Amino acid sequence: MDTRTLGRLQVSSLGLGCMGMSQSFGARPPRDEMITFLRDAVERGVTLFDTAEVYGPFHNEELVGEALEPVRDDVVIATKFGFAFDDQGRQTGVTSRPESIRAAVDGSLRRLRTETIDLLYQHRVDPDVPIEEVAGAVKELIEAGKVKHFGMSEAGVATIRRAHAVQPVTALQSEYSLFWREPEDAILPALDELGIGFVPFSPLGRGFLTGQVTAATEFGEGDIRATLPRFEREALAANLALVDLVTKVADRKGVTVGQVALAWLLAQEPWIVPIPGTRRLERLDENLGSAAVELTADDLAELDVASTTVEVHGERYPEAMQKMIDR
Ligand SMILES: NC(=O)c1ccc[n+]([C@@H]2O[C@H](COP(=O)([O-])OP(=O)(O)OC[C@H]3O[C@@H](n4cnc5c(N)ncnc54)[C@H](OP(=O)(O)O)[C@@H]3O)[C@@H](O)[C@H]2O)c1
Repeated sequence: MDTRTLGRLQVSSLGLGCMGMSQSFGARPPRDEMITFLRDAVERGVTLFDTAEVYGPFHNEELVGEALEPVRDDVVIATKFGFAFDDQGRQTGVTSRPESIRAAVDGSLRRLRTETIDLLYQHRVDPDVPIEEVAGAVKELIEAGKVKHFGMSEAGVATIRRAHAVQPVTALQSEYSLFWREPEDAILPALDELGIGFVPFSPLGRGFLTGQVTAATEFGEGDIRATLPRFEREALAANLALVDLVTKVADRKGVTVGQVALAWLLAQEPWIVPIPGTRRLERLDENLGSAAVELTADDLAELDVASTTVEVHGERYPEAMQKMIDR
């Protein structure tokens, strides 16, 4: 696979989002199958694996740690801190106090079976802790050799700038796709100026931009989409107009809708590395195939018109989760 550079970190042009192997899209698949799947992804040239302390919680880091232990030196593991948990391991809110960051990192290192985390993101900005303190704590962890690179997630431009002044930020991970283009307004220009890479999460719009979600799709137990305003029945029916337009481009080019969605992201900037999540090998192959899809200027213009003319209905998160976004 071709590589791209986030800040000064070289990774495969597409990474693999691992969250769905532990949560958010229904029942957890069998552990053994996911371990084999993760190793198959390495065989196919994927070098960036995205996890977080909160995925599971804890289950996802353990899975990724076990699967990648034999190939640890060949891959880049990205994980995230920033949530608090109760005694039962349930998430209770955000926390980025320096002592919680240090404790989270020790837990992540243990579960990931590694001596150093390649890329450590703050998962959500904590409004109660000045970002300089957060960046300072990560800087110390880098100096101690426990972490190599600092990242942020869903952080606003002002916060990114303040953090970057204390500890250079390697990558920002926030939602970005044909379904959610807000980062283009202020985030992407700032990242370009500062030399920070961008890792779009939910690059397939949580499966929406693959054509596999229809107006009749029922989201079952444990599927986060059942709680997301954009996937509520009426909003979803309206939003599918966007998929119809992307499908036209895909059909003309003889590729899939998901491949167009990912190729569109790759075409935006050379320092963008999407991390589509999947648990199926044929879908992984399809998603990686997007790196070979060349969108012409006309294709890109058509997609631009499609995604700006179709008004997306519904917020991307429920209100409580929306409040955690730093703007
Ligand atoms: N920083 C953050 O706050 C944050 C938030 C959300 C996600 N993330 C990260 O970003 C990664 C990706 O985001 P995401 O999982 O939310 O959304 P996504 O990658 O846009 O979509 C994942 C969904 O699409 C399906 N899918 C994947 N490839 C497909 C294909 N070729 N054809 C049809 N369906 C396909 C998956 O199902 P199957 O698994 O069944 O294939 C899953 O339901 C996560 O794994 C996580 O690591 C980070």
